[in-house]
Amino acid sequence: MSQGPRSGLAAVSSALLAMSRHLEVRDVLKTIVASARELLDARYAALGVPDDHGGFAQFVVDGVSDQQWKAIGPLPRQHGILAAMLQEAKIERLADVRKDPRFEGWPSAHPDLADFLGLPIRDGDEVIGALFLANKNCPKPDGGCGFTEDDVELLSILAQHAAIALTNARLYERSRELTIAEERSRLAHELHDAVSQKLFSLRLTAQAAAALVDRDPSRAKGELHQVALLAAEAADELRAAVVELRPAALDEDGLVNTLRTQVQVLDRAHTARVTFAGRGVRALPAAQEEAVLRVAQEALHNALRHSGAQHVDVTLDRHGGGAVLRVTDDGNGFDPRSVRRAGRHLGLVSMRDRASGVGGGLTVESAPGKGTTIEMEVPGG
Ligand SMILES: Nc1ncnc2c1ncn2[C@@H]1O[C@H](COP(=O)(O)OP(=O)(O)OP(=O)(O)O)[C@@H](O)[C@H]1O
Ligand SMILES: [Mg+2]
Repeated sequence: MSQGPRSGLAAVSSALLAMSRHLEVRDVLKTIVASARELLDARYAALGVPDDHGGFAQFVVDGVSDQQWKAIGPLPRQHGILAAMLQEAKIERLADVRKDPRFEGWPSAHPDLADFLGLPIRDGDEVIGALFLANKNCPKPDGGCGFTEDDVELLSILAQHAAIALTNARLYERSRELTIAEERSRLAHELHDAVSQKLFSLRLTAQAAAALVDRDPSRAKGELHQVALLAAEAADELRAAVVELRPAALDEDGLVNTLRTQVQVLDRAHTARVTFAGRGVRALPAAQEEAVLRVAQEALHNALRHSGAQHVDVTLDRHGGGAVLRVTDDGNGFDPRSVRRAGRHLGLVSMRDRASGVGGGLTVESAPGKGTTIEMEVPGG
């Protein structure tokens, strides 16, 4: 290609633009390699991103057909001149790579490389890859033109931009992985909140039924009916959590009625007296209603499972444009500071996340021997 200053600049510029358009690491690498080969008018180009085990995490070539690439066999390891480029971070410009003392040969299907130009791709002090070209196209019939100083300069510019593009692409992929991890943890909370509580109640109700079956068959029948209801609800909640729907009951009955029904079910399933009072609360934004319901469920569940309380009271009151939920038990209480955040205790963490997730707040008031009050405030619409 022609190397006049203008067309050279235009070619570099379009290569850089192409690089910045891609976000996937592999696409970025392909664009870099193809641009380098075209700009320097070489027959072959390649780019390797080393891994920590002496191999390459990525290795992209241009100028080699798919068929030929397959025939070459496994990816190269970091040895010979490739290793020198990565370890010493040095530019290698060779008239004939095969005559270099570090040359160790190549697989039989490998193209025969002669003149060679290789550059490390650096991010600060770290070498994050190597970019190299071979066999510059040459008007002379017997070849041997070789890469020039100008080629080195041009490839350096590309290598610098390749470093930026590579780093960006990695950051992008990393942030996408994080989003997926967040999504997983959200779903884990969701499943925990919705389903494990229902299953717990279900187990208790089934035990109650078993205890009653000889003494009082008709009450046992009632409990078994309850088991069926709870199982159906657990199945609904599971489905809702999985397809990211909010709890089905909220849409149909609204927050106050949903809370009242759930409290009634728990009251029947446990020996503790469980009550509900809803006072003057208007409809809240959907996300806030869902958060209130989930927090109430977890707080109730904790009170019934951990506190040994005789009474558990749930109230939902209007508070400015929003609402405040309180779940109070007269059980044995605990020291909230002593609950380790890590490990198997997800409930308290999940309640806090839910409250702050909708712009609200959560306080836990408890002390050994004093009972527990969980209070959640949401701002409303
Ligand atoms: N109302 C309560 N009364 C007494 N102790 C409580 C109460 N709520 C929580 N706790 C204590 O705080 C701990 C942490 O509660 P948290 O809800 O975070 O986890 P968990 O209930 O143990 O497990 P998970 O909710 O993940 O199934 C409980 O193990 C319990 O010791
Ligand atoms: Mg819990």
